[in-house]
Amino acid sequence: MKFEILLSLVPAVAAFPFGQFSQFKRNIISDATQVNNQTFNYVIAGAGIGGLVTANRLTEDENTRVLVIEAGGEGNDVRERIDIPAQAYLDGLPVDGSPYDWGIYTEQQTSLNGRYLHWPRGKIVGGSTAVNALYMTRSIKDEHDAWAELVDDDGWNWDNMLDYFRRYETFTAPDKSLKKNLSLEIKDSAHGYDGPIQISFPQYNYPQNGLWQQTFNNLGVESDHDPFSGSNIGGYITPNSIDPDTQLRSYAASAYLYPVQNSRPNLVVLSDALVTRINFDTSSSTPVANGLSFTTNGGSDEYQVRASSEVVIAGGVLGSPQILLQSGIGPRENLESQNVNVLVDLPGVGAHVQDHISTTINYDTTAPVAGSLSEDQLNHQLDLFRDGHFAQSVYSTPNGAIAYVPLDDLMGDDTDSFLDELEANITSSTSSGDDPEEVKAGYRATYESDLENVFKAGNAVVEILMNNLGSNLGFQLALQHPLSRGKISLGSQNASENAKVDPLYLTHPADIQIIRSGLRYIRRLAATEPLSSVIRDEVSPGANTSSDEDLDDYIRNSAVSQYHPASSCAMLPRENGGVVDTQLRVYGVNNLRVIDSSTIPLPIAAHHMQVTYALCEKGADLIRGYERASDSPSATESESGGLLSATIDMTLLTLMLIIAITYNGLY
Ligand SMILES: Cc1cc2nc3c(=O)[nH]c(=O)nc-3n(C[C@H](O)[C@H](O)[C@H](O)COP(=O)(O)OP(=O)(O)OC[C@H]3O[C@@H](n4cnc5c(N)ncnc54)[C@H](O)[C@@H]3O)c2cc1C
Ligand SMILES: *[C@@H]1O[C@H](CO)[C@@H](O)[C@H](O)[C@H]1NC(C)=O
Ligand SMILES: *[C@@H]1O[C@H](CO)[C@@H](O)[C@H](O)[C@H]1NC(C)=O
Ligand SMILES: *[C@@H]1O[C@H](CO)[C@@H](O)[C@H](O)[C@H]1NC(C)=O
Ligand SMILES: *[C@@H]1O[C@H](CO)[C@@H](O)[C@H](O)[C@H]1NC(C)=O
Ligand SMILES: *[C@@H]1O[C@H](CO)[C@@H](O)[C@H](O)[C@H]1NC(C)=O
Repeated sequence: MKFEILLSLVPAVAAFPFGQFSQFKRNIISDATQVNNQTFNYVIAGAGIGGLVTANRLTEDENTRVLVIEAGGEGNDVRERIDIPAQAYLDGLPVDGSPYDWGIYTEQQTSLNGRYLHWPRGKIVGGSTAVNALYMTRSIKDEHDAWAELVDDDGWNWDNMLDYFRRYETFTAPDKSLKKNLSLEIKDSAHGYDGPIQISFPQYNYPQNGLWQQTFNNLGVESDHDPFSGSNIGGYITPNSIDPDTQLRSYAASAYLYPVQNSRPNLVVLSDALVTRINFDTSSSTPVANGLSFTTNGGSDEYQVRASSEVVIAGGVLGSPQILLQSGIGPRENLESQNVNVLVDLPGVGAHVQDHISTTINYDTTAPVAGSLSEDQLNHQLDLFRDGHFAQSVYSTPNGAIAYVPLDDLMGDDTDSFLDELEANITSSTSSGDDPEEVKAGYRATYESDLENVFKAGNAVVEILMNNLGSNLGFQLALQHPLSRGKISLGSQNASENAKVDPLYLTHPADIQIIRSGLRYIRRLAATEPLSSVIRDEVSPGANTSSDEDLDDYIRNSAVSQYHPASSCAMLPRENGGVVDTQLRVYGVNNLRVIDSSTIPLPIAAHHMQVTYALCEKGADLIRGYERASDSPSATESESGGLLSATIDMTLLTLMLIIAITYNGLY
C-alpha cells in the first residue's frame, strides 16, 4: 500500500527538477546569467574526469549543490566522432583548429631539432576522455607503492587504491572464443562490476591481434597475468572504454553526467565558459578560496560564482596550473613578470611536467589495416557500424595491442652500466639549471624513487603499441618513465591565451638512449614469429637507419607526445616542489583543491585515464571527509533490493521534492 502511494507520486517527482521548481530546464546549460553571482556548496573548474567524477559523487547527497564550469561545448554537433570508437583515429577531434581542442603548441624544443609540438587536449564536456584513443590500461602496484612512499601516506598505495580502481569500472569480460584468440588472462578481483565507466573488448578484431602475445612470449617477455592486477609486463590486448551493448565510447560525460542529468537539480554544468581566476577572502592570514571568476564570448563578458564550502580546480595538466597562476599562486618570478599579485609563492606550480614521448616504426603488411581502405570501403564500414553489425565493422574497434617492456629486455648486457650511470648522474642532473631549490629536491626524490622502484625493479620503462588503423602496420615506442622534466608558465595576462608549455623533451640524456634501444627492440619484434609472418618491408624510417646517430636523428625529427602529460600540480611535500598535499589541498590557502591528472606525482607506465579516474574517485571521498572501507556496502548491494530498494528510492525522491521546495530560489 505504502509502495503504491509512493509510486503514484512518481510522475510529479520525476518532473520536478526542471519543471516549476527550478529555473533550469536541463542541468547542462550555456547561459552564464543563470548562475551569475550565485552561491553553490562547491564550484569546480573543468568538466573532464576530475570535474565530473567529483561533481557526480558530491551530488549523491541531494543537499550538496555543485556547479561545474567548462570552457568547451557539449559536442553534440560531432556526436558520431565522439561516440564511434575508431573515429578517434579515422576522423579524430583533437586536431588543430577544432573548437574542441585547446590548440596548445609547445615552446620550440631544442632536442627535437627545433620543432613545436601540438599538445591536444579536449575542450569539451567530458574533457580529453571525449576525444582520446579509448585504451584502458592501468598503472601497477610498484608505481602506486612508490607514490605512497614519496608522499608518506599509505592511502595512495596499491592496496588502498585498488578499491578506487574498481569503483569507476563496469568490466565486461570477453567471451570464451575471444579470450582464447587473444590469450587474455582475467583476474576477476582486479575489476569492478558496477561502476559508471564501461570497459569491454570490441566486437571487431583484427586478426593480427591474435599474434601479439605469443610474439612477446617468444621474445622472452612472458605475460601470464591480468594487466589490471598490479603488474603489466608483457604483451596483451587491452580492453577499451566502450559500452558493450551499444559499442559506443564510455567517457566522463556519458558515465558521470548524462545518467543523472535529469534527476539531480543540485548538479549544474555550465559549458562554453572560461574560468579565469579563483577568488579569495583575504581578511584572515591564510587566504580562503570562495569562488571563481569566468568569462564567455572570448573574454568579453565577465561573471562570478561563490562557493560556500570549497573550490575545486580540475582543468587538467595545462588548465589547472594556468588557473592557479592567474590567481596569484605559483613561482614568484613568473607571476611578477606578468604583473600578477603574488598570493602564495609556490614554486611547484607548473613544474615537474613529464610526458610520454613517442615515435613509430612502420611496416608494409599483409594484415588488414583500416587506413589502407578506400573512402568507399570506409563509408561501407561506417554504414555497417550504424546498422549495428559491429563484429563486421572496423569502426567498432580502436587499437588494443600493447606491451610493457623492462629495461634489460631492451638493453641486455648494457643494462647494469646504464643504471650505474643513471644513478651517478642524479646529483649532476638535479643541481644545475635555474629551477627553484624545492623543485630540484622534487626531481631528486622522484628520480631516486623511479630508479629503485621501476628501473632496478624490472618494471616497464617503455610501451609498444601496434597501430592497426594507419596505412601501414605501425609500432609506436613510447617512453613511460621519462627523466626529462618540463614546465608550464604564464606567458600573458590574457586568460584567453594558453599558458606557455615547455616539456623540455629529451633534455635528460638517458631518455633518448632508452628510446633508441626501444626502436631496436621493435625491429627484433617484427622479425619474431608469429608476428613476422604478416610483416614485409620497413617503410619508415627504413632499415638503413640503424646507427646510433641515424636513429637519434630519426627520433629528434619524428617524436611526438603520446598525450600523457602529468604532474604540473604535483602531489608532493611542499619542500619538494609540491602543489597539493595528500588530501589534494593546495598549499598556502584554505578551501581549495586540485583534483585531476595534474596532481600525479610520478611517471606512470600506462595511459592516464584509469589512474585519473581512480585518483578523482578518491578525491571525491576525501572531500566528503571519509575513507570508504573496502568492505562497506557496494553500490550493487544497495541498488539491487527489488521492492525494498524501490521503496527507499521513492522515499528519497519524496525527500528531494521537499528539499527542492525548501531550496527553491537559492540557485
Ligand atoms: C588525443 C588524446 C588521446 C589520449 N588517449 C588516451 C587513451 O587511449 N587512454 C587513456 O587512458 N588516456 C588517453 N589520453 C589521456 C587522458 O584522456 C587524460 O589523461 C585524461 O583525460 C586527463 O583527465 P583530466 O580530468 O586531468 O583532464 P581533461 O580530461 O583534459 O579535462 C580537463 C577539462 O577542464 C577544462 N578546462 C581547462 N581549463 C579550463 C578553464 N580555464 N575553464 C574551464 N574549463 C577548463 C577542459 O576543457 C577539459 O574539459 C589521451 C589524451 C588525448 C588528448
Ligand atoms: C553581481 O555582483 C556584482 C558584485 O557584487 C555586481 O556588481 C553585479 O551588479 C551583480 N550582477 C548581477 C546580474 O546581479
Ligand atoms: C577466434 O578465431 C577464430 C579463428 O580465426 C575465428 O573464427 C573466430 O571468429 C574468432 N573469435 C572471435 C570472438 O574473435
Ligand atoms: C650521464 O651523464 C653524462 C654526462 O652528461 C652523459 O653523457 C650520459 O649519457 C648520462 N647517462 C645517463 C644514463 O644518464
Ligand atoms: C586575449 O586573447 C584572445 C585570444 O587570443 C584575443 O581574442 C583577445 O583579443 C585578447 N584580449 C586582449 C584584451 O588582448
Ligand atoms: C636510407 O635509404 C633511403 C633511400 O635510398 C635514403 O633516402 C635515406 O637517406 C637513407 N637513410 C640513411 C639514414 O642512410
